[in-house]
Amino acid sequence: MKKEKVGLEMQDVIGRTYHEFPEPTSKALNADAKVVCLCNQKGGVGKTTSVVSIAGALKNYGRRVLVIDLDPQSAASIALGVEAETLEKTALDLLIDDRYNDPENIGELIYQTTVDDIELIPANIHLTTSEAILTHNHKEIGEAQLQLANKIEPLKKDYDVILIDTQPSLGFLNINGLCAADSVIIPNAAEYFPLRGTTQLLDTIYNIRTQLNPNLKIGGIFITMLSARTTHSREVIERINDEWPDLLLYSMISRSIAFADSTVDGAPMEQLKKNHKGSKQYRMLVRELFERNVF
Ligand SMILES: Nc1ncnc2c1ncn2[C@@H]1O[C@H](COP(=O)(O)OP(=O)(O)O)[C@@H](O)[C@H]1O
Ligand SMILES: [Mg+2]
Repeated sequence: MKKEKVGLEMQDVIGRTYHEFPEPTSKALNADAKVVCLCNQKGGVGKTTSVVSIAGALKNYGRRVLVIDLDPQSAASIALGVEAETLEKTALDLLIDDRYNDPENIGELIYQTTVDDIELIPANIHLTTSEAILTHNHKEIGEAQLQLANKIEPLKKDYDVILIDTQPSLGFLNINGLCAADSVIIPNAAEYFPLRGTTQLLDTIYNIRTQLNPNLKIGGIFITMLSARTTHSREVIERINDEWPDLLLYSMISRSIAFADSTVDGAPMEQLKKNHKGSKQYRMLVRELFERNVF
């Protein structure tokens, strides 16, 4: 990084020193949205919570955000206050219906959330049918996998960031998410050493890069649900740092019950408890991701 380092000197839980990341500068005019996919095939590592919290922090920095829920369990939709279960128009329609090749029609799929400037294309359980439908309708290699990428292209002028939440798998839907993304970021719960899982995920990313989306960047791995006082957490983080030193972000998210509460409230914690440590940590993560040109 060529930028001058002026922020406060900080130290993370494994003793790496860094400079506090600055607030993002004002937006570039007429820039296309950066598309960022959160991915980890393990469940319960903080993907959805991070999507929602990052959206909240981005809004705080004046960015317009579209969240695309690609998990048939609807967790991100619900956490943003949209009861997706009974909705007729969802991410499934975006993927399978040729009507949405015409950008004029996509507005039908975009829902306002509880927060201004955070909009949503929701998902529900019907999304599980997308693979069968798309692989039946698109026989050319890669065509079914590139549906999301193609469909969201015209939306990029309307947002600063498009965030994609994914399900715990490396299957068809997640490949659509990764093919549509400029960057992938990988949340990892501090208790869990993900050697095999992350190696598999990185292999999948490299394959997608060679075959379908040459521009896909790895934005980083970040730690969630950190209990700084336990030596086990620290050991796990040290091992991740040994394996992927260039990928492990400095910003980490502590364990806090407040995240579950904000899901129940249907809005990012940023909007409800701006001064909570967890809100601040997600703002710092977002700043670091700006520094890494993920946003
Ligand atoms: N930093 C955190 N501290 C405590 N609980 C958390 C934290 N982040 C997420 N959670 C909780 O952990 C559970 C799994 O998180 P979630 O974001 O749904 O993971 P994923 O999307 O990877 O399955 C949820 O109940 C969520 O409220
Ligand atoms: Mg989830």
